[in-house]
Amino acid sequence: MGRLDNQHVLVTGGSRGIGAAVVEKSLAEGATVSFLDIDVAAGQAFAQSLNSERVLFQPADIRDAGAIAAAHDAAVSRFGAVTGLVNNAGRNSYADPVTMTEEQWDDVFAVDLKSAWLVARAMLPAMKAAKAGSIVNIASVHADMTYPGFFPYAAAKSGLVGLTRSLALEMGPFQVRVNALSPGYTETFLVQDYFANADPALRDKVIEVHPMRRMAKPMEIANCVAFLLSDEASFVTGANWVADGGLTARFAG
Ligand SMILES: NC(=O)c1ccc[n+]([C@@H]2O[C@H](COP(=O)([O-])OP(=O)(O)OC[C@H]3O[C@@H](n4cnc5c(N)ncnc54)[C@H](O)[C@@H]3O)[C@@H](O)[C@H]2O)c1
Repeated sequence: MGRLDNQHVLVTGGSRGIGAAVVEKSLAEGATVSFLDIDVAAGQAFAQSLNSERVLFQPADIRDAGAIAAAHDAAVSRFGAVTGLVNNAGRNSYADPVTMTEEQWDDVFAVDLKSAWLVARAMLPAMKAAKAGSIVNIASVHADMTYPGFFPYAAAKSGLVGLTRSLALEMGPFQVRVNALSPGYTETFLVQDYFANADPALRDKVIEVHPMRRMAKPMEIANCVAFLLSDEASFVTGANWVADGGLTARFAG
């Protein structure tokens, strides 16, 4: 018996990093899993490596409502209605608030915020009709605290937590739960990319300020996602769960 038996979980950005760990964890907990990604080669390779009849990869750019609809249709015709959605795909942003263009701003918000609504919008009618469902939006500790040089990631992730609250209120009467999960530093490409753009001493400094003296492994985040997707979290909605190894509990000093 898995915690996600008889569930159909759909994960965005499931080809690598936290999304890939959520795909693996959901499979291990008994779900059928569809995952979307813009990186077609990585998605196909990951799906093949899983070697499971309970997994489907669909190429899709989550900035595009038409692509989401097509991927959703394919997922539903393979495994039936989606019962659990993980809005995970995201991107970093290193823009300057003065020189950033509107197009660059729009792209950050399209990936890190608007997509969560677009993907949820495609799946909510079936969840409402079934009077069941769980949505987990992968936000970030940047929703509450941030640092210079990362503009405007914090704004998008704060917006995602606000979207989570609004959707939770709208969907509560239908027994559809909507939560955010805010990871701290997690060992993925996104974090490698951040350190590659920073002072070489930064990585050690960051580890030093973590109470647990380490970053998360993607599966440690996926374990929390599985809980929020499962019936064990049946009275949890509108929440923002932080999984950061105690990082944001720390005051300067
Ligand atoms: N890694 C961290 O430390 C960390 C911390 C806090 C929050 N997060 C959040 O967790 C989520 C996953 O991050 P990660 O570290 O695993 O990143 P990652 O870059 O390793 O993986 C992101 C995945 O999303 C896909 N993707 C990107 N844009 C897409 C698009 N337009 N359409 C479809 N797929 C797209 C990528 O191809 C990739 O497979 C993101 O939302 C990120 O902001 C990560």
